[in-house]
Amino acid sequence: MIPNQWYAILDSREVRPGKLVGVRRMGVNLVAWRDDEGQIVLMRDKCPHRGAALSLGKLADGHIQCPFHGFRFDPSGACVLIPANGRNAPVPKAFRAHSFPARDEHGLIWIWWGRPREDLPPVPFFDDLDESFAYGTYAVHWNAHYSRAIENQLDVSHLPFIHTNTIGRGNRTVVNGPVSVLEDDELHVWVMNKVDAGQLAAKPSDVSRPDYPPLLRFRFPNVWQNAIAPDLRVFVAFAPIDAENTMMYLRFYQRFIKVPLLRELVCWVGAIANNRIAGEDQRVVVTQQPKISGLGIGEKLIPADQPIIRYLKHRGELIDAAGDDWQP
Ligand code: FES
Ligand SMILES: [Fe+2]
Repeated sequence: MIPNQWYAILDSREVRPGKLVGVRRMGVNLVAWRDDEGQIVLMRDKCPHRGAALSLGKLADGHIQCPFHGFRFDPSGACVLIPANGRNAPVPKAFRAHSFPARDEHGLIWIWWGRPREDLPPVPFFDDLDESFAYGTYAVHWNAHYSRAIENQLDVSHLPFIHTNTIGRGNRTVVNGPVSVLEDDELHVWVMNKVDAGQLAAKPSDVSRPDYPPLLRFRFPNVWQNAIAPDLRVFVAFAPIDAENTMMYLRFYQRFIKVPLLRELVCWVGAIANNRIAGEDQRVVVTQQPKISGLGIGEKLIPADQPIIRYLKHRGELIDAAGDDWQP
């Protein structure tokens, strides 16, 4: 994991008011809930008293109450009540549950994975996926590390093989370029695949940057979109569960149909189609070894893999730049 980043980890609708949601993300067990104002709270799902899962407890007066001995914690993690000591007894400061900075934006729950600080940056999302779009979501679990799932969405040479009868139709096996550019923390990829008529592929260095928008955009650390058309996008948030598992939040965004109900129906059908295509990838990506990707793991990469190389390189740079041994 790259430290000191916001990660999208849940769909907002998964955390309803009045409910405690126990979920594993970022390699730790978390409990998600909403305070009295509806603000999202993310805590480690472990009571500081005897280690029980807080998610089995309940909400009481805007606090989370442990199922075991009834200790209560406020949204910041501070313990506010130890029933066995008496309700008027002071609570020592050491009794704290671990609460993570959290946001609820763009229909996603985000966790700040790093040292808490006053001036947290905005969550990394795509400005152009705004309120003018409607979307449908499909969440699917992959037995793959999130780095493998992300690479797969930057892999332009797999299309005619994995997606022979869907998005890879046309047998365009020759990969010209691809052109990939890293701007701030966003990777842009133009796809220029062609049918093999005996020509050699143009190397990435021989192809200049097109003057039209890129097809693929990945924003560090874990969101991606495919701009199929100005009014039609496929989006994925790759929520890390642990070293071997990822929850994929696949979204179909569209704004060509605005009539209510029909709009929702189209988004829903689109989300199901997304999942079918992602299933074609999933079958193979879960078999990749080692589970966690990286440069220098003995893979023999080709020019068509350049977007993947850029992703892995920048991932390494961000991890180094964080220079942080922070652990939750
Ligand atoms: S384990 Fe939570 S109150 Fe005892
Ligand atoms: Fe694919």
